Amino acid sequence: MNFPLPRWIGHRGGGALAPENTLAGIRLAGRMGFSAVEFDVMLSGDGTPVLIHDETLERTTNGQGLVGETPDAQLFALDAGDGERVPCYADAVAACREYGLLANVEIKPAAGLERQTAETVARLSTGLWQGATVQPLISSFSLEALEIARDLAPQIPRGVLFERVPADWLAVVRRLRAVTLHCAARHLSDDVLAEAQANGIPVLCYTVNTKKAAESLFERGVSAIFTDRLDLFVAETSAYKGLHLRG
Ligand code: G3P
Ligand code: MG
Repeated sequence: MNFPLPRWIGHRGGGALAPENTLAGIRLAGRMGFSAVEFDVMLSGDGTPVLIHDETLERTTNGQGLVGETPDAQLFALDAGDGERVPCYADAVAACREYGLLANVEIKPAAGLERQTAETVARLSTGLWQGATVQPLISSFSLEALEIARDLAPQIPRGVLFERVPADWLAVVRRLRAVTLHCAARHLSDDVLAEAQANGIPVLCYTVNTKKAAESLFERGVSAIFTDRLDLFVAETSAYKGLHLRG
């Protein structure tokens, strides 16, 4: 596969400029000229993939309790901030396709639901992204979820996501046939970067919210950053064409 990897990726949609993991955030990133957004996908009580970060509703909505125990009728009636709803994955894909955004779909399974979440997202993704000009990039902290995505939707590129990159990361990337390495910027070592560069694997770092930090990471060889501060990078992003990768 061959896909363009932008340098700046809206974290949880539009970062801090819109309620996180909402259609408003995705659309804002698109309108601002960003080429990529990341969002988190978890299953609702009815098994529908929805965009939300936490296993519980309290922090980002006016609801209470576990996402995985909340039926769709209740979940989709909640306020996720500024009157926005918790979107289903299918609606988020439609918004990304409308703006030609590269979507980094982070499979975020509730504990114990790794298999079910990954199977649902992978199966649905094949149809939802069919014919899209820009294919998504599936990532997850759950290696089990990525294995399932590899087996059920092998045509969709995968990125391996770690907070701290373990010593055997390259073997994991190879096993999952992943094309990118994603990790926390604060824990990224030069050794890992050198190994990634030597093997032609782009490194994507979260969450980078100052220009200084972004510049320093790009200088060190990082390919892309996830940011909450889309406002800081809007000028650069509209002028940048993207790096074409072969996977
Ligand atoms: O996928 C990158 C980043 O979103 C991982 O951290 O907790 O914001 O999902 P988190
Ligand atoms: Mg995420």
